[in-house]
Amino acid sequence: MSANSKIRVAPSILSADFSKLGEEIKAIDAAGADYIHVDVMDGHFVPNITIGPNVVAAIRPYTKKVMDVHLMIAPADPFLEAFAKAGADIITIHPQAGPHLHRSLQTIKALGKKAGVALNPATPVDEIDHIMDLVDLVLVMTVNPGFGGQAYIPLEGKIADIRKRITATGRQIDLEVDGGITPDTAKKVIAAGADVLVAGTAVFKNGPEKYAESIKAIRGA
Ligand code: DX5
Ligand code: ZN
Repeated sequence: MSANSKIRVAPSILSADFSKLGEEIKAIDAAGADYIHVDVMDGHFVPNITIGPNVVAAIRPYTKKVMDVHLMIAPADPFLEAFAKAGADIITIHPQAGPHLHRSLQTIKALGKKAGVALNPATPVDEIDHIMDLVDLVLVMTVNPGFGGQAYIPLEGKIADIRKRITATGRQIDLEVDGGITPDTAKKVIAAGADVLVAGTAVFKNGPEKYAESIKAIRGA
């Protein structure tokens, strides 16, 4: 077992060609993507609008990989069931998306899905103190959410802190990092304890012929 064998790469389809999303999903699946990361934005919680549950349902038949749905929407509660029905495997919400984070995570679990919580760069780690028993994934944002292609914000200390907390639970909880991930920044976040790396620009920018190579470079294989 190589040191990086448990590192998973989650290409963000935000950087894919939206005019042919089905083909793009098939291509990143074949190129070795572990999760398919879907960035959902509402133009309210974040200053951009992307896709909704209908699009998740439309792309679902194109892959059997884990559909990792990152909700950057507020409120999130009214839409959890729709994303679950659309075929999400993991549904991740931000604590700021509603008044009752614990209840929202319970709802996701009750829908039979894995639950994630996402922390913006300025969100303190203490936000997750009392919900660790409910989460399957903690997402550390290393850019301010809203757009692909932004520069990585160095938050390795925060990642390492969360790794310690995950280890203390004794449970399997993904530690996902999202924003500005390149082969270089991937090394830093992996060293800090991350095991799932979201990458939009770094996977898609060189075109489909390079998807496999780009994913491999991020995984550090
Ligand atoms: C940002 C999204 C990210 C983004 C990552 O709001 O959550 O998933 O698409 O894009 P890159 O890898 O280009 O920083
Ligand atoms: Zn994301």
